[in-house]
Amino acid sequence: MSVAKKEYKRITTKTLVDMKDKGEKISMLTAYDFTMAKIVDGAGIDVILVGDSASNVMAGHETTLPITLDQMIYHASSVVRGITRSLVVVDIPFGSYQSDPKEALRSAIRIMKESGAHAVKVEGGKEIKESVKRILNAGIPVMGHLGLTPQSIYKFGTYTVRAKEEEEAEKLKADAKLLEKAGCFAIVLEKVPAKLAEEVAKSLTIPIIGIGAGNGVDGQVLVTHDMIGMTHEFNPRFLRRYLELYTEMTKAFEQYSTDVKSGDFPNSKEQY
Ligand code: KIV
Repeated sequence: MSVAKKEYKRITTKTLVDMKDKGEKISMLTAYDFTMAKIVDGAGIDVILVGDSASNVMAGHETTLPITLDQMIYHASSVVRGITRSLVVVDIPFGSYQSDPKEALRSAIRIMKESGAHAVKVEGGKEIKESVKRILNAGIPVMGHLGLTPQSIYKFGTYTVRAKEEEEAEKLKADAKLLEKAGCFAIVLEKVPAKLAEEVAKSLTIPIIGIGAGNGVDGQVLVTHDMIGMTHEFNPRFLRRYLELYTEMTKAFEQYSTDVKSGDFPNSKEQY
């Protein structure tokens, strides 16, 4: 059993800030369904992100843009039914918070009410400040997301490392401060230079959770399907694969097919 799992019965947004204070790293993984959430929660992962990466991983879209609020709520409510300990954070999908703060609040309320999740995540800094404040004023915890923000992929034009240049790095640092000041309880930093991520983590009191942002931050997040090797075409440098499930599952399915076709399955013990 992990150390954190023993110490904390239930992870809250406050637990995460306390963990940063104590210098304890935060573990975060994605889940989009009940069965996966149950395993991830049982393993002692601190935060489960119902990411809009469900758009890629579950639905097969090229980007995170097409997934809808209803679909995110469906995934989130399945995840919530599978957990007893982890904090569940849900991405507000593209198009459900950018136009105005009232719409952002309506979307956040629907996620909290209809799924039972504990917090929402939004991408961006200064541009969405009023929406973040409006959601927080309603008592809903908000996680920020800066650096490579996949909902803006058509603006960036590429999934390459962000904030390598001074100007973008300065904006990122200012946005991180702004999100902390607005009341966010944590920020995801995606695909930025490790040195910059460490500087941001050191300058804030709220936890910085990195993905492709090096080891100087307060925690790490990965897409579960990537880290267990169920996906196999996505191979960024930051990804560590803990299993090779694409290969293992393919072997199992091939063996099953062989057994069915040869008449080996089911045998006399596998029938009534
Ligand atoms: O949607 C997602 O899975 C994410 C993580 C990559 C941080 O936002």
